[in-house]
Amino acid sequence: MSDYDVIVIGGGPGGYVAAIRCAQLGLKTACVETWQDRKGKTVLGGTCLNVGCIPSKALLDSSHHFENITKHSSEHGISVENATIDIRKMITRKDKVVKILTMGVAGLFKKHNITLLEGIGSLRSNSEVEVTSAEDEKLIVSAKNIIIATGSIPSTLPPAPVDHDCIVDSTGALAFDEVPERLGVIGAGVIGLELGSVWRRLGSEVTVIEAMNEFMPAADKDIADAAKKELNKQGLDIQLGAKMTSCTTVNGKVKIQYQQENESNDLEVDKLIVAIGRQPNTQGLNAEHVGLEIDERGFIETDSQCRTNLENVYAIGDVIKGPMLAHKAMEEGVAVAELIDGQQADFSHDNIPWVVYTWPEIAWVGKTEQQLNDEGRNIRVGNFPFIATGRARAMNETTGMIKMIGDADTDELLSVHIFGPNASELISEAVLAKSFEASTEDIARTIHAHPTLSEAMHEAALSVDGRTLHM
Ligand code: FAD
Ligand code: NAI
Repeated sequence: MSDYDVIVIGGGPGGYVAAIRCAQLGLKTACVETWQDRKGKTVLGGTCLNVGCIPSKALLDSSHHFENITKHSSEHGISVENATIDIRKMITRKDKVVKILTMGVAGLFKKHNITLLEGIGSLRSNSEVEVTSAEDEKLIVSAKNIIIATGSIPSTLPPAPVDHDCIVDSTGALAFDEVPERLGVIGAGVIGLELGSVWRRLGSEVTVIEAMNEFMPAADKDIADAAKKELNKQGLDIQLGAKMTSCTTVNGKVKIQYQQENESNDLEVDKLIVAIGRQPNTQGLNAEHVGLEIDERGFIETDSQCRTNLENVYAIGDVIKGPMLAHKAMEEGVAVAELIDGQQADFSHDNIPWVVYTWPEIAWVGKTEQQLNDEGRNIRVGNFPFIATGRARAMNETTGMIKMIGDADTDELLSVHIFGPNASELISEAVLAKSFEASTEDIARTIHAHPTLSEAMHEAALSVDGRTLHM
């Protein structure tokens, strides 16, 4: 007889949510986790809660307050003189937010009777996991099903190895103890833009070096162009088509050379963040020994329902293909738990929202206009700028727009792209509408409260049919 119905390896958003859903369904569940805090205590929540989504948003919020106070409060008639920021206090607040949330997950494990197995989990077979504790004690446990949710780790750049002092990855960039005067970022991706924004708002002179010629190629071009223009205006110096050729650290300064077209450029910074993507984490899993298939990029191979090549072994989240997003990992966790329970499960990736938490925020669901054109789709495009809504005016947050794309023949809502205030919240309406296979007319006929930013969504839908009311 097996010790458990399900063992989950990894307690990040994919793994802990899978474990909770399994337990809710009456399955005897254990979760193996190796992450330890500074005191050596095992903590749940993975990358997302400890060094990802949550701490980055805590710092984005703190720095947003600081920028509003120092740069924008006078627009509202509020004068604040000599506003300062205590970086240590800001970091301590962020650490407290993380602690409360990770403890919250531990509380949920208790509530659902999920056993936490502390240590590194490795596969002995498709039904046995070996757990090696920090003290090197070994425990072998068996299960009818195994869910691998071991996540991802930052990709490294050999010419700029992370030294956890001058050259850091995203984790280091969440814990600077003072504002670097000059900050370099390699990679104008999501992390580069979010953490670059944090430190710029607090006073750093930030240069972002991006290898690609195009800015944010995953986003719709109109949105990416508008975002680049605004981020440049805010002071983020984004160098596209720039390839680092050398990087040395001398007396606490990082000296970088990069090639742009045929020109060689020099840059000296106090701190350098390397944010060139993340790679799946299969270290310690013993994958080769048990014959777990891994693709050429290091992702665990799965079918469309997260099944690996080993019977009753599933994999979810960042360690498999698809966007490396916490909500994608969580939904896969729920779907696999329900599949194990014998239910129909939805694994569709079509309606996954993307959000970049710059300010204004960038968010989208569905394909870009360029992708739809490349596919030869007959489309209608609507646009509405926030400047034409009463609420955005009242908030003094008039930058940006909502772009909506519908099928020209059927009016099916195909995608929504937002650059604007609270885009991260506004996108939910579009995700819901798309999930229900709504038409743009459905959104146009939905009553939106006045005055709200959501009226821009309503107007974008009206604009698809050429009948905006406020433009
Ligand atoms: P992870 O969160 O990486 O968790 C994997 C867990 O498995 C870890 O706790 C690890 O210790 C454990 N583990 C690994 N191997 C073993 C083993 N052999 N035995 C036991 N345990 C093991 N996504 C968003 O959607 N929104 C955001 O705003 C966002 N912001 C981000 C900001 C930053 C700075 C970073 C770095 C990432 C951000 N992400 C964001 C991405 C998000 O964090 C990941 O997509 C998400 O954490 C993936 O969840 P996961 O459960 O697959 O893996
Ligand atoms: P990313 O893939 O978003 O961006 C990496 C960037 O680095 C790309 O633009 C790439 O062209 C560039 N690059 C790669 N090699 C380079 C080199 N040698 N020199 C210069 N540029 C180079 O990866 P990032 O920002 O590291 O984030 C990793 C993942 O974490 C994201 O893909 C995302 O899935 C997740 N994440 C999500 C967030 C969100 O949802 N808001 C926030 C932060 C991270």
